Amino acid sequence: MKSADTMQQQPVSIYIHLPWCLHKCAYCDFNSHATKANQFPEQLYTQQLIADLAQAAPLISGRDVQSIFIGGGTPSLFSPESIEKILSACTTLTRLLPKCEITLETNPGTFEYQKFAEFLSAGINRISVGAQSFNNIHLTALGRIHDANEAINALETAHKIGFKNINVDLMFGLPNQSIEEALTDIETACHQQVNHISYYQLTLEPNTVFHRFPPKLPDEDINWEIQTNGLQALENAGYQRYEVSAYAQANSQCVHNTNYWRYGDYLGVGAGAHSKITTRKGILRNQRTRQPDSYIQAVINQSHILQEHFVANDQLTFEFMLNNLRLVDGFTIDTFTRTTGLHWSQVEQQVNDQISEGLMEKINHQYRASPHGYQYLDELIQRFLPN
Ligand SMILES: C[S@@+](CC[C@H](N)C(=O)[O-])C[C@H]1O[C@@H](n2cnc3c(N)ncnc32)[C@H](O)[C@@H]1O
Ligand code: SF4
Repeated sequence: MKSADTMQQQPVSIYIHLPWCLHKCAYCDFNSHATKANQFPEQLYTQQLIADLAQAAPLISGRDVQSIFIGGGTPSLFSPESIEKILSACTTLTRLLPKCEITLETNPGTFEYQKFAEFLSAGINRISVGAQSFNNIHLTALGRIHDANEAINALETAHKIGFKNINVDLMFGLPNQSIEEALTDIETACHQQVNHISYYQLTLEPNTVFHRFPPKLPDEDINWEIQTNGLQALENAGYQRYEVSAYAQANSQCVHNTNYWRYGDYLGVGAGAHSKITTRKGILRNQRTRQPDSYIQAVINQSHILQEHFVANDQLTFEFMLNNLRLVDGFTIDTFTRTTGLHWSQVEQQVNDQISEGLMEKINHQYRASPHGYQYLDELIQRFLPN
């Protein structure tokens, strides 16, 4: 399988899931579990997560690791010692590139100077701060544990400590949010001179408080205004949109998330983590046990892989498009053939049909959603579903 050989020489990413938070936010459907500080089994979890990594590492042996993303949950609840242990296991068990991007997701309600200085010393070189908004009314409605001052303080502190690579997560379309309030949030984030902004529209997900008790959200027109004006404000401030929700200053695109969007390979360890790895037999996907306590026990019993399958051939094009069409620059034929193992001829007609309909375009060697297709991205992606 020629493309598997090529893919197996490509760099991979590692995702590490740390699943606890001090409070479950009203909108959140991530695999995160409320706990009191210091009342979760940090040491045991860290130990079993490292055992999980040691068992899984052969799947990516011989491949360079270009990024590690420690996400959650609220990874900043963990001590710098645990984070250091996890990173040192990554160094020993896998082949980290010298410039490996290493991100830690943090919550402003857990931001302390000393602790974050130690995260930097432990090897974290990119910090992602979940501000969500800088408006106290909206933060309270979302069920966040921090206020606007703490969010600003977290960003200022991250700079002072010496983090050069800082992302802020913002959401828009919040309950009763006006266009002006949303734009003020963007202005505040830009003023902090972070080099990356993730700007998500709030969605009401099943199994959340907001789904059971839906708040009044801005209507479609207001959200449209927020998004178009917000995009303009971000670009005026020097942030280029490169994915549906991702904006970056020059050379600050997130390596880790870009690898997902390019349909690259990644190994996920920790409760509920997903992996996608190209093997000689095909593209393997698996997921680990979700509940943290069950996960710890399952790693001990070596039964923590909940499900595992090879991606069916007729799914490959859809999975590829689902990810790559999110990128403003789209993809090249080479990326398609290398990551899917398919011949371009297997999708060429379908792509040409979308170009004729004005939903996609080809600029030099890049195929991508046209401005119209980007506006109706879900519909465009559905067109690549297998029959
Ligand atoms: C894994 S979450 C968590 C990071 C960290 N725990 C925090 O909340 O600050 C990553 C980001 O996804 C976004 N997010 C989570 N749930 C969302 C939802 N229902 N709609 C839109 N964005 C959401 C938030 O911006 C959040 O910061
Ligand atoms: S802090 Fe983040 S992961 Fe935790 S519940 Fe809130 S949004 Fe979800």
